[in-house]
Amino acid sequence: MESRLRWLICLLLIGSFSSNCCASKSMIMRLSTEEKMEDLLTRRNLLSNGLGCTPPMGWNSWNHFACNIGEKTVKETADALVSTGLSKLGYIYVNIDDCWAESSRDNKGRLVAKKSTFPSGIKALADYVHSKGLKLGIYSDAGYYTCSKKQPGSLGHEEQDAKTFASWGIDYLKYDNCNNDFSKPTQRYPVMTRALMNSGRPIFFSLCEWGDLHPALWGYNVGNSWRTTNDISDNWDSMVSRADQNEVYADLARPGGWNDPDMLEVGNGGMTKDEYIVHFSIWAISKAPLLIGCDVRNTTKEVMEIIANKEVIAVNQDKLGVQAKKVRMEGDLEVWAGPLSNYRVAVVLLNRGAGRNSIIAHWDDIGLPPNTAVIARDLWKHKSLETKFIGNLTATVDSHACKMYILKPVS
Ligand SMILES: *[C@@H]1O[C@H](CO)[C@@H](O)[C@H](O)[C@H]1NC(C)=O
Ligand SMILES: *[C@@H]1O[C@H](CO)[C@@H](O)[C@H](O)[C@H]1NC(C)=O
Repeated sequence: MESRLRWLICLLLIGSFSSNCCASKSMIMRLSTEEKMEDLLTRRNLLSNGLGCTPPMGWNSWNHFACNIGEKTVKETADALVSTGLSKLGYIYVNIDDCWAESSRDNKGRLVAKKSTFPSGIKALADYVHSKGLKLGIYSDAGYYTCSKKQPGSLGHEEQDAKTFASWGIDYLKYDNCNNDFSKPTQRYPVMTRALMNSGRPIFFSLCEWGDLHPALWGYNVGNSWRTTNDISDNWDSMVSRADQNEVYADLARPGGWNDPDMLEVGNGGMTKDEYIVHFSIWAISKAPLLIGCDVRNTTKEVMEIIANKEVIAVNQDKLGVQAKKVRMEGDLEVWAGPLSNYRVAVVLLNRGAGRNSIIAHWDDIGLPPNTAVIARDLWKHKSLETKFIGNLTATVDSHACKMYILKPVS
């Protein structure tokens, strides 16, 4: 009886908060905190931080700098996010990846910032980043050492490390999977979720266990995003294969919990401009975290045109929060589509082949009623097409390139 009553209250609360999935996520949580850990994966949500209502946006050090980072680079990156206008577009997380800590804990068991590269400590860095209106992210690992093996992991130290991060003013934790004890990620990651919830600070929790045990199936209860793939590299094949692997789980992403095909490589030099436009378009329409991975202190105009495309960012941040799917595939020619708020539809026409080709989006593939007339906005040309479209939209697309549209029904 008691539990049935609790479920009834729970359903009523979800109903009253249904306009904001993040709120309902946190309400479910609060009601069930006394339940046992074992029920976690089937019944309830351990995470009630209210974060990630839209996919996170920001920067991460790894793709460009790997272990070659320090507080100077991080501060200059924060400065650059503001001076370039990127922070105004939503890129607010400044995320430090691996190699920020000393190789051993202090005599109280705490993680310590590496003296040679972060001499002022992480708290001072967080204060600096916060003073610019930005948020600071950090990195740890659900194992004994991080992937670089240059610093300890958090396995067995979750409570202490979460409290340390909170005391420093950390806003985001990327939690990697190297050098673990071979137990399942579903045994190790929720321990950190709980520790973060006990830390007294809302910290975005990014699960980075490379898709082991299909985190899309359980990640919503544990984190705000979950990697669905192994690490990306700065080349076309790696990028499109991450996009494909991530697409499989489209139905499981939603406000408060996102599929993560890994961070952006735009601007790192390994792909053509058109290929980077594909990368950014597919990440945006897939509601992936948009974490810039290049050196934002030193970007070209061409790179800025991609990562600062407001219209493409707006698709990613649309409040409906529905991940697009690959709705049609004919050889190398693909149509990706997903719904947006106000009955609009976002579409990417993607040509993965070696030659120029024409690609057609049929309304019955992309989820529009057959007789609907739409205005098509080209998000890379920044203009609306002059004709209205009924039933289909066709475009010629270059090799390794895409077109991206928002289709808006008109009466
Ligand atoms: C800035 O970027 C250019 C290429 O875009 C590169 O040649 C140059 O070395 C970079 N400068 C610094 C300081 O990283
Ligand atoms: C696309 O739509 C146009 C106009 O409605 C129609 O004439 C044409 O036959 C359609 N093409 C295909 C391949 O369905």
